[in-house]
Amino acid sequence: MLSSLLPKVTNILDKEVTVDQRLQEICELLKENIPYYDWVGFYFRNGDKEELKLGPYAGEPTDHTIIPFGKGICGQVAVSNQNFVVPDVKAQDNYIACSLTVKSEIVIPLFKNGVNIGQIDIDSNTIDPFNSEDEEFLEFVNQEVAKIL
Ligand code: SME
Repeated sequence: MLSSLLPKVTNILDKEVTVDQRLQEICELLKENIPYYDWVGFYFRNGDKEELKLGPYAGEPTDHTIIPFGKGICGQVAVSNQNFVVPDVKAQDNYIACSLTVKSEIVIPLFKNGVNIGQIDIDSNTIDPFNSEDEEFLEFVNQEVAKIL
């Protein structure tokens, strides 16, 4: 099911519009087509600072437009360089709540030339919805996005 979106992802990334417009469309594609993806966004390293800055996203606006490295799930991925799958956010101590409806989260780092420059972050209102298929799909999305950055 997720793999059926792969050609759509590459089509969007090939469009002759700004990078932010393309990333915005990717967020909307994922949110609209995957029922348990309730918030989809990109965070990128904010210049040389040890913090993440929110980029394009689809879903409710969040207060967390800047996240220091190490803080929350996103900030941890900025330093670990590893996928982080959270089946139940209540079980996490180092978690930044964006909305009370969110039950689970997945964050996949985005590498450009081997450097962790950001991540894709998905929040879900469903408990424990993510599996290895989501990880592989989102890794592919990030690899394709890296090509246009
Ligand atoms: N929950 C994230 C914060 C970002 S929001 O989900 C949009 C975290 O703990 O890092």
